[in-house]
Amino acid sequence: MAISPISPESAPPPYPHRHLLGIEGLSPDDISQLLDLSEEYAEQSRGRGRKLSTLSGCTCINLFFENSTRTRTSFELAGKRLGADVINISVGSSSIKKGETLIDTAMTLNAMHADVLAVRHPDAGAVKLLSEKVNCAVINAGDGSHEHPTQALLDALTIRRRRGHLRDLQVALCGDIAHSRVARSNIYLLQTMGARVRVVAPPTLLPPELERLGVEVFHDMRRGLADCDIVMMLRLQRERMQGTFVPSIREYFRFFGLDYEKLQFAKPDALIMHPGPMNRGVEIDSQVADDIDRSLIHEQVEMGVAVRMACLDLLAHGVREAGAL
Ligand code: NCD
Repeated sequence: MAISPISPESAPPPYPHRHLLGIEGLSPDDISQLLDLSEEYAEQSRGRGRKLSTLSGCTCINLFFENSTRTRTSFELAGKRLGADVINISVGSSSIKKGETLIDTAMTLNAMHADVLAVRHPDAGAVKLLSEKVNCAVINAGDGSHEHPTQALLDALTIRRRRGHLRDLQVALCGDIAHSRVARSNIYLLQTMGARVRVVAPPTLLPPELERLGVEVFHDMRRGLADCDIVMMLRLQRERMQGTFVPSIREYFRFFGLDYEKLQFAKPDALIMHPGPMNRGVEIDSQVADDIDRSLIHEQVEMGVAVRMACLDLLAHGVREAGAL
């Protein structure tokens, strides 16, 4: 079946990867290609005629083994805006809960001839395993504490639209780095694109492999935020914690929660980000989160749809073209 590109004059060049399992291993060109197409979709989504037929005849399946509101909805909206048929399967209502293995799930999906599968799973590596068993393209929508590539792409797009570039920006990722797939994907992406990344967290919330990631580490918000262009706050991922990682929420907010007092140590025009869902009064003060001049939190959600449209478009075209060879 012929699928039409976004517009004849801007037909996307073939994307060199079958799946999007993580940011690690992507080149600056791969990332720029995804961001450039996302930018086009962001503009298109703001204008009239948002519904396209780019992926008409394609089937996109969202397979979520973990609860999700914004990521699942964002993939669904992205697929629908491109004219694809979109199916949502969530673990609560599927046979997986009845004991089906991941491999059996893959076989079932193969029989349905999906073009793109967006998968979220609580275990690191599960999405990759599934990608080795299915015939379609797979997007990692978050696997355990490992990676969440579309989140890092939407964060990068949001920053790039505000600052014009990523190179040489100083970005602080603050909070629960140890359990955060958002942090890991952002570290890979920002460093690949020439930004400088630091993490700010108590030692208990830092992952053991941090040195390998090549970031600067701070245990104090004042020093950690000094001269930063972007302050990205992360949720305490209590669902992934076994044991106690912080003495109390009150104390955590006092030392690591972002409020105006701590924000003044960053650059005067520093921008605030958060992937959501936010825990107000835990990692971020409500007023700071809602500051329309500084907070990019709603723009991140908007850019999420554009990024997922670009990913679905490039990967679905790749699958169709590979099948046509
Ligand atoms: C993040 C996730 O699920 O990893 N959220 C998201 O995708 N919007 C971060 C989080 O849950 O805190």
